Amino acid sequence: MRHSKRANIMACIGLLTGALALTSCSGPGGKPAEEAAPAAMSEEQRVERGRYLVLVMGCGDCHTPGTFAGAPDRSRWLAGSEYGWQGPWGTSYASNLTPDSTGLPGWTEEDFVRVLKSGTRKDGTKVLPPMPWPWFSNLTDEDAGAIGAYLTTLAPVPHVVPKRTAPGQKAPGAVIVFPPPQPWDMPAQQAQ
Ligand code: HEC
Repeated sequence: MRHSKRANIMACIGLLTGALALTSCSGPGGKPAEEAAPAAMSEEQRVERGRYLVLVMGCGDCHTPGTFAGAPDRSRWLAGSEYGWQGPWGTSYASNLTPDSTGLPGWTEEDFVRVLKSGTRKDGTKVLPPMPWPWFSNLTDEDAGAIGAYLTTLAPVPHVVPKRTAPGQKAPGAVIVFPPPQPWDMPAQQAQ
């Protein structure tokens, strides 16, 4: 149990390094080619595709309580977390993604697509690390839309996530603090 908790946190630190260093991320070969448009899917198939993508892209790691203790709570699926992630950006908390009034009420498929592809919220502010949107910006429009379609179908779960705080401000709750990077982990000056 202890080991798997640490392994999960380390996986997120890996994501964070990418999110901090780059405004968008792609693999060694550059951006993946857009796939040829698949045959039109029914709304039900799109939602199912979105559910599949949310599972394999690990959204539940940060957004579902219990995950870092090795047991994601399915009854509070994607209802946000009270772990604070602290670094040069201040402290951020993974949002409650459900349509409850304490989460993201009234968010449309397009609102989710905008965050995933550009890291820009509905109110125009940028999404902070460790949300790995720079990697998610590589999603095809079809897949980003499918994720958005699925997220609008989530069961509402009441949960107020702590508000993010600016650098140097006191942050509530349990906070994961990122130490300054080792030389190896410093961002390279190269553009990708
Ligand atoms: C490594 C942890 C992590 C992972 C993995 C992750 N997120 Fe996030 N996400 C966050 C954090 C932290 C925030 C809040 C950032 C902030 O305060 O600006 C966030 C914010 C968001 C927001 C913005 C909501 C708002 O409050 O405006 C959306 C939407 C979102 N995430 C969706 C997703 C989806 C969908 C996935 C999977 C495809 C995902 N996230 C994976 C950590 C994560």
